[in-house]
Amino acid sequence: MSDRVLIFDTTLRDGEQSPGCSMNLQEKLTLARQLAKLGVDIIEAGFPIASEGDLESVKAISRAVREPVICALARTRAADIEHAQEALAEAARPRIHTFIATSDIHLEHKLRMSREQVLAEVDRAVRQARRYVDDVEFSAEDATRSDWDFLVEVFSAAVAAGASTLNVPDTVGYTTPSEYHALISYLRQHVEGAAEACFSLHCHNDLGLAVANSLAAIRAGARQVECTVNGIGERAGNTAMEEVVMVLKTRRDAFEGVDTGIVTSEIYPTSRMLSSIIGVPVQPNKAVVGDNAFAHEAGIHQDGVLKHSMTYEIMTPQSIGRPSNELVLGKHSGRHAFRERLLELGFDVQDDAFEAAFKRFKALADKKKSIYNEDLEAIVCDTVRQADDRFVLGDLSIVSGTFAAPHATLELAVDGEPHRATAQGTGPVDAVFRAIAELTQTKSELLRYQVNAITAGMDAQGEVSVTLSEDARRVIGHGAHTDIIVASAKAYVHALNKLEWHKRRHDVAEPKGI
Ligand code: KIV
Ligand code: ZN
Repeated sequence: MSDRVLIFDTTLRDGEQSPGCSMNLQEKLTLARQLAKLGVDIIEAGFPIASEGDLESVKAISRAVREPVICALARTRAADIEHAQEALAEAARPRIHTFIATSDIHLEHKLRMSREQVLAEVDRAVRQARRYVDDVEFSAEDATRSDWDFLVEVFSAAVAAGASTLNVPDTVGYTTPSEYHALISYLRQHVEGAAEACFSLHCHNDLGLAVANSLAAIRAGARQVECTVNGIGERAGNTAMEEVVMVLKTRRDAFEGVDTGIVTSEIYPTSRMLSSIIGVPVQPNKAVVGDNAFAHEAGIHQDGVLKHSMTYEIMTPQSIGRPSNELVLGKHSGRHAFRERLLELGFDVQDDAFEAAFKRFKALADKKKSIYNEDLEAIVCDTVRQADDRFVLGDLSIVSGTFAAPHATLELAVDGEPHRATAQGTGPVDAVFRAIAELTQTKSELLRYQVNAITAGMDAQGEVSVTLSEDARRVIGHGAHTDIIVASAKAYVHALNKLEWHKRRHDVAEPKGI
């Protein structure tokens, strides 16, 4: 058995399905390039039948990212597979990933199909996909709640029809490590053609077991891990890529030398990039990439680490590419240093976007003595975001304090047309939000408003997250500025642009309730 585990990254598909984690095309491209630098083997770039936006982003990623396999998701329906093939037409190494549910509960209540019909559908869909590409993956949705012998039949049919990767999803995060281990072992023993196939795992984290289950499947011989950066994904998320990779690296002894091809020093930059793009912070105590993952607070630990780092550190911050929070650039830094620094952070920003980002960097450096990596990430993500925005924030002025009722005047371009509004509010943020709501005519509801300082110091940039909902769609907007009222306006406008972007997506499939 090979001792190499393939990393199948589904941040752009399963991850993007989680509330508030949607990304536009530029954002997806930026992240896909970074995933390639990280060394993932397969990028699941989207679900092309789900929307025009998904189709276009899989096409763009197929054109731009040539090293990893680019994969598109499709139900077993013929139209889904045709869309996947269209989206992957320009990919250097295309893969179609087709799936159908196999548990009785899904067959009876969702698909309303018999087991025989499902078997026929698997055969037809895999054969259709094989006419378009050589590399076909088949998933039995809700495998962990399916009858094991039916799964054997389904996977045997998929192999006979030409699938080379067999994915065994724990769709609802229900299984346990010993049970999943037994299931993968059983399938490896009984599926016809199992020896030639690569078994794959796909775990959800509903009971907090996604990583443990994934490791159990690897022990049982699975050689593809489906995972996401920071563990984002439907509901409680998917297996966290950084955790599985670092377990395998740190505990090679416990996993018989099994390893991945991940460039671990790119883990932290990738985690930061995703977090700044989607505007969802990583929880401070998150394993491997959380703020506190390497912070030794207790005196006895600090003393030990100072004497010998291995007393309390099982891996080093450098091994995951975690920089000390050193000053990276200042107001005298030029274009070259700025571009180099962005490249190190994984952002390859070109032309007008680069000039716009550089201008913002200079403006920030005039206001703020120390510019940190986090400041640069905030600038670039803000610039990338504006590429296809319907609403663009212009100047704004606020009066607030104890003498007068807070009010705000601001300019906002709607579809390129400049508009101006003045509004009063209970406080300056309320006044700004009212003015923006008036100009955008939004019907959305504000669910959450959150402010953080991006870095330490009195002159730190404020980072604001705004969660909005409209028609059961939930989005998170993100804005950063040294003035938190401006950061709030940016975050609100960003969230409104995300809602607009969803409206333009024209969903043609059922909602992506996989
Ligand atoms: O969770 C799941 O079952 C999925 C499949 C499409 C692989 O995401
Ligand atoms: Zn999933």
